[in-house]
Amino acid sequence: MRRVKASLGDKGYNIMIGSGLLRQTGNWLKEIGLSDKPVIITNPVVQELYGNALEESLSAEGFKVTVLLVADGEEQKSLETAGRLYAELTSCYAERTTPILALGGGVIGDLAGFVAATYLRGVPLVQTPTTLLAQVDSSIGGKVAVNQGQLKNKIGAFYQPRLVISDTATLKTLPAKEFTNSMAEVIKSAVIRDKDFFTFIETNLDKIKTQDNAALEEIVFCSARIKARVVEQDEMDLGLRNILNFGHTVGHAIETVSDFNVEHGEAIAVGMLAAARIAQRLGLLESGELTRLKGVIAGAGLPTEMPNLDTEGIIQAIKHDKKIVAGKVRFVLPKAIGNVFVTEEVSLSLVEQVLAG
Ligand SMILES: NC(=O)c1ccc[n+]([C@@H]2O[C@H](COP(=O)([O-])OP(=O)(O)OC[C@H]3O[C@@H](n4cnc5c(N)ncnc54)[C@H](O)[C@@H]3O)[C@@H](O)[C@H]2O)c1
Repeated sequence: MRRVKASLGDKGYNIMIGSGLLRQTGNWLKEIGLSDKPVIITNPVVQELYGNALEESLSAEGFKVTVLLVADGEEQKSLETAGRLYAELTSCYAERTTPILALGGGVIGDLAGFVAATYLRGVPLVQTPTTLLAQVDSSIGGKVAVNQGQLKNKIGAFYQPRLVISDTATLKTLPAKEFTNSMAEVIKSAVIRDKDFFTFIETNLDKIKTQDNAALEEIVFCSARIKARVVEQDEMDLGLRNILNFGHTVGHAIETVSDFNVEHGEAIAVGMLAAARIAQRLGLLESGELTRLKGVIAGAGLPTEMPNLDTEGIIQAIKHDKKIVAGKVRFVLPKAIGNVFVTEEVSLSLVEQVLAG
């Protein structure tokens, strides 16, 4: 088992990472002194796979567990679903001390986290993420939210969990495509902060893809540590946290123009390469580094070429994105693998040239 400490003063917490950890949840909840009537929020897919393991671990320590189910899917990240959960929490007499456990991927984590942040002005939250994306990214850092119609994460809060338990064994049941897509965020973490971690991914792609236990633990541990270190320095997303958006300027535009037919991980993969090409054209990044990045992205099973979309449409989408500042686009650019910076000095014409190939 590995442990990352998110040091956020009195809001600090541990992130536990390892195979089979769901079965130790009861112990840890007791250790941090949470009340004995936790509520698990999950969906039927995850409940079927891991609900018993979590419930048994809690019951063994004398906890009296309630399970609230929401349907699977991003559309559940809504005020409507949150409203239903508030009513169910009231029906089961939840109190200020009642911990909410979010068992699932980023959708459950964001939704249950939002409910925990707002019900009775905040009840303790424990994240038990079961997707690679949730273990390396969304369960850490305290961003919780629901969508407003098509507008992603419009209504939310910063609300740190009391504990994160990442059981890497749960990743083995993920659909292959989910796993591959989330590798984009893992690669992103390495590029922004940690060249040794990048080398680890580069040299262990086969083990990662076949989900070797030690390799899984290492990628979740290194990514979680990077996210925690960034959040510690910029909890409220006022500066440094921007570097977590490496690949997202072009990536979001691709998602939008493709009407979300290009998946998030695929779009971010292409977006990271676009940012790296921009950096290379600006003379900031050596071409060898670009080649390595492309190799790892391809090796992980992610795309390296722009999808067949209208370049002008992508430029327009970038322009409409919030990352535009006085006619210049905000980009996170790599100077080297493991070292990125935020700039507003990228012209749209350079972006267009890079997108056109
Ligand atoms: N809060 C943040 O900082 C942050 C960061 C990044 C993304 N997000 C959010 O995360 C969400 C995406 O999360 P996601 O990619 O985890 O998607 P998801 O939560 O929809 O999970 C993907 C699918 O996998 C299933 N699943 C979950 N665990 C499983 C397992 N172990 N085995 C088999 N199937 C399993 C889910 O039921 C779902 O069908 C988006 O809403 C996004 O906005 C939040």
